[in-house]
Amino acid sequence: MAKHLVLLSLAVVFTFSCLAFAYEPSPLQDFCVADTTSSARVNGLACKDHMKVQADDFFFSGLHIAGNTSNAVGSSIKPVNVAQIPGLNTLGVSMVRLDFAPWGINPPHTHPRASEIITVVEGSLEVGFVTSNPENRLITKVLKKGDVFVFPVGLVHFQRNVGYGNAMALAVLSSQNPGAITIANAVVGSNPSIGSDILAKAFQVDKKIVEQIQSKF
Ligand SMILES: *[C@@H]1O[C@H](CO)[C@@H](O)[C@H](O)[C@H]1NC(C)=O
Repeated sequence: MAKHLVLLSLAVVFTFSCLAFAYEPSPLQDFCVADTTSSARVNGLACKDHMKVQADDFFFSGLHIAGNTSNAVGSSIKPVNVAQIPGLNTLGVSMVRLDFAPWGINPPHTHPRASEIITVVEGSLEVGFVTSNPENRLITKVLKKGDVFVFPVGLVHFQRNVGYGNAMALAVLSSQNPGAITIANAVVGSNPSIGSDILAKAFQVDKKIVEQIQSKF
């Protein structure tokens, strides 16, 4: 009986320590500006000498400039994460500017390490995310200028400009390095390709249809 209790407590402790490690750890100092020249391999980036830290380590300029949306999906993403601002290292936050041509989309994708909160600055966007298995429920809404919406961490989501002019949105993400997995690119555009017979079964279509889609990536 006592042995079972010990095992149970170990299981509980293990579960909760996993939960704790599922998010970026809280900083243990004021800041840890990324030293991009360091060869140290740590979770995140090694800290630059505090005495050498400058205002520019926490600074980025250019988010007022619209991105180029002349591409196949009609959108542009300008990230401002630890790659642009070394001072974001260990802080668990970053942002992004999204531009959309009329009817442009930000295709279905997920951020493996971040929840996202988005606000529409100009135009209107149809947004949505899909819950995990087995429901796969689509939760969707049309946002106007000034509206705010949340995409929970890891869930597949998208945006589409449903206005007649350009649209612009700003989003904040709960990671210094949220990562992005675009579903179409990852599944049918991987390098090397996932076997078309595997995808044919996954999508329940003929191999030829899969190969036709794969040829677009
Ligand atoms: C936008 O991108 C397209 C396609 O790459 C390119 O032809 C065009 O010159 C770019 N426009 C600007 C203003 O940079």
